[in-house]
Amino acid sequence: MDWGMKNRMSRIFKPETGRTVMLAVDHGYFLGPISKLENPKKTIEPLIPFTDALMLTRGILRNCVNHEFQIPIVLRVSGGNSIVGKELSNEEIITSVREAVRLNVCAVAFSIYVGAEFEHQTLVCLSKLIDECEDCGIPVLAVTAVGKELEKRDARYLSLACRIAAELGARFIKTYYCEDFEKVVESSPVPLVIAGGPKMDSEVDVLKIAFEAMSKGAKGVDFGRNIWQSSHPVAMINAIRSIVHEGANVEKAVEIFNKTKEGNI
Ligand code: R5P
Repeated sequence: MDWGMKNRMSRIFKPETGRTVMLAVDHGYFLGPISKLENPKKTIEPLIPFTDALMLTRGILRNCVNHEFQIPIVLRVSGGNSIVGKELSNEEIITSVREAVRLNVCAVAFSIYVGAEFEHQTLVCLSKLIDECEDCGIPVLAVTAVGKELEKRDARYLSLACRIAAELGARFIKTYYCEDFEKVVESSPVPLVIAGGPKMDSEVDVLKIAFEAMSKGAKGVDFGRNIWQSSHPVAMINAIRSIVHEGANVEKAVEIFNKTKEGNI
């Protein structure tokens, strides 16, 4: 790995722990202004001090994130679909690598849809993006998207999707936590971070998933809705940080959540 690639990876995965707490706020690229992300600037700013890397599109980066922030950026560069369109898997590269360089990003993110109608298109686009990004020393994060088919999130499917992404050259992968998650980890030669998915009813359940994933070999989380749709987003991300970076168990993380919440943040 060349210096630029290593440097970008180490800005995302903190050298002290080799782990990361990423914050995903890229949902608008196909979901529009979903709940609690209507005003991205207002949602993002209080969470910045607790975030290792921010995942978003160029439009939200330019318009809603202060350029003076020292936060590493993971730029979503796939899209072309919408929640009201016919087929979610119909994504292509929507932002050039030149633009990613101009925006001084640490990585770019691209979704693949293994087993879906546009599987081939997304895998070929990922490979082309990786060819170009490797030239510039920019890591590519592959996202194993499942569209509306949440039942696809089992170890067999996710191992297949993660392994394909790694074989095509992704430097790290965003996937889902599932039963037997250690099998997904074993089948991928590159680090995995987990998505949170739709908001869960209980904050404790979110912390349990973060804890289980980290215990089974994940290198971090890239949560969105379960942080900023929480009634206490700062408390939530702070509790997640304690699991990822300090090895806290669920009980300890709940304690940290409650203490941060009592501080009214
Ligand atoms: C999909 O909408 C995006 O790629 C999100 O970044 C991803 O789903 C993670 O966010 P969440 O934790 O809300 O699922």
